[in-house]
Amino acid sequence: MIDPPLRGHPAKADRSAIHWTFFRQWLKNPLAIAALSPSSRRLAREMVKQLPEHPGRVIELGGGTGVFTRALLERGVHPNNLLVVELNEELHRLLQQQFPEVHVVRGDARELQAIIEGEGFAEAGGVDAILSGLGLLSMSRGTQRRILTAAFSVLGPNGRFIQFTYGPASPVSRDLLTELGISVHRGGVAWRNVPPAAVYVFTRNRSTSIRAVRTHKR
Ligand SMILES: C[S@@+](CC[C@H](N)C(=O)[O-])C[C@H]1O[C@@H](n2cnc3c(N)ncnc32)[C@H](O)[C@@H]1O
Repeated sequence: MIDPPLRGHPAKADRSAIHWTFFRQWLKNPLAIAALSPSSRRLAREMVKQLPEHPGRVIELGGGTGVFTRALLERGVHPNNLLVVELNEELHRLLQQQFPEVHVVRGDARELQAIIEGEGFAEAGGVDAILSGLGLLSMSRGTQRRILTAAFSVLGPNGRFIQFTYGPASPVSRDLLTELGISVHRGGVAWRNVPPAAVYVFTRNRSTSIRAVRTHKR
């Protein structure tokens, strides 16, 4: 049990408990968790570097142990403007304990549109960035399509989807990007993450068909 709530960075004992929880979830469902251990703080820093200069509303997908959540708050994202989505029950509980001031939802990234509508988190196109800790590379093309379609339906016209991968190239194929009207460029690389991870930034092409959805004000 983690002593709630954790302010700043977790103490060593809490870190071990967090890593152990993550590992147990990996044992139960390696495909969904998609990594043996949580991402490093170095990778988290590379991810948040790709945020716009003054991010308003931000969504994190697959919050896991909260490494990226903490980096987002440190980067200046206001807790009221942050929505974290996590599918795993135990990791969701862990996130709620650590970040009681942040809106943490247990849900599936494929249902993002319904989640933010239900939560009244953002207005039409009101999300500036989505930071994804999902193991997108190990997901089927159909699942990638559903997640990216849902993500770009809630992002504003200049919104960006920030994703890391352990692979040597974008985790989403050129074909699927063309189909969805999305462009990609590589941001940084966290060489000292184990294994090293690259950060990719996905944005809409100018005449894309994925449009922002109208949702209620929070
Ligand atoms: C590679 S882990 C990364 C977690 C986090 N960045 C960390 O280092 O602790 C992927 C996370 O995505 C979650 N996840 C997998 N599929 C999901 C889905 N469809 N919707 C929401 N979360 C999902 C998993 O439960 C896991 O916590």
